[in-house]
Amino acid sequence: MRVVVVTGGSDGIGAEIARRLAARDGAAGGRNLALVLGARDREKLEQVAGQCAALGAQALAVPTDVADPDQCRRLIDMAEQRFGRIDVLVNNAGRSAHALFEEVPDLGWYEELMRINLWGSVWCTQAALPHLKAARGRIVAVSSLAGLIGVPGRTAYSASKFAMTGFFEALRAELKGAGVSVTIAYPGVVDTRIRYRGFNALGQEMGSSGLREEGAMTVQECARLIVDGMEARRREVVMTAKGKLGRLLKLLAPGLVEKMALAALKDEVKPL
Ligand SMILES: NC(=O)c1ccc[n+]([C@@H]2O[C@H](COP(=O)([O-])OP(=O)(O)OC[C@H]3O[C@@H](n4cnc5c(N)ncnc54)[C@H](OP(=O)(O)O)[C@@H]3O)[C@@H](O)[C@H]2O)c1
Repeated sequence: MRVVVVTGGSDGIGAEIARRLAARDGAAGGRNLALVLGARDREKLEQVAGQCAALGAQALAVPTDVADPDQCRRLIDMAEQRFGRIDVLVNNAGRSAHALFEEVPDLGWYEELMRINLWGSVWCTQAALPHLKAARGRIVAVSSLAGLIGVPGRTAYSASKFAMTGFFEALRAELKGAGVSVTIAYPGVVDTRIRYRGFNALGQEMGSSGLREEGAMTVQECARLIVDGMEARRREVVMTAKGKLGRLLKLLAPGLVEKMALAALKDEVKPL
């Protein structure tokens, strides 16, 4: 029995990762997978757990706010108590944010974003580590292209995702001898509701997207790339040709990348 914990499993990429894993298990005969889904919205979590169960996997919904270290520990404890092991931890829960730094009157929500995007991953990983080592398992960290290239209008989000990148890159090296792989995923723009739910300059929910949504990657394609990377124990999954090129260009011509990022910002919907 393989046990996979997915944070942010109630919607978007996390829910799709769970359904994809359940479908793969079902196609291979089923009953060999247990999914433990953590997020705040109990109803949506249970819906996704039901979809995974219908595909043949065991699925446990654990209402969890990853901004709270006790709840992160509880999520991992529940997984271990119920299924006796943990093979994979997918640190996916996250929020977005869209604001020009000089327009932010109070930085309280910058700290809150860090607690969700960075600290939630760190707390879950700390709690799960002994189990992951025992299973010679896998860690997945869902960062963002904004965690590879600083994006204007996204100082808080970029900072949280760069921090994730740094933490998990360092941890990957520390865990090499223990046989635990760390796959960092860098999605570009994916077709989910994340931007609508992100913080605006005042720390309120955006309610609309700050980006143009046409051309976004489908959530199915994003989940497929992440699951394939996780299964192959790849170090990284950098999505989109633009993301790969931007990363390379940043080393060769950083000024050009800045100009491109600023041009993209002008083309965006105004944050407030
Ligand atoms: N979509 C994109 O374009 C994109 C691009 C790059 C990276 N990413 C990253 O991909 C990950 C998933 O994003 P998504 O697009 O799937 O977003 P989404 O559709 O908004 O889903 C976010 C998930 O995270 C959960 N979540 C949010 N705050 C939480 C908290 N405090 N505690 C526990 N769970 C929480 C949400 O559930 P509840 O609301 O029920 O808690 C939901 O299940 C995020 O880390 C995001 O930064 C997304």
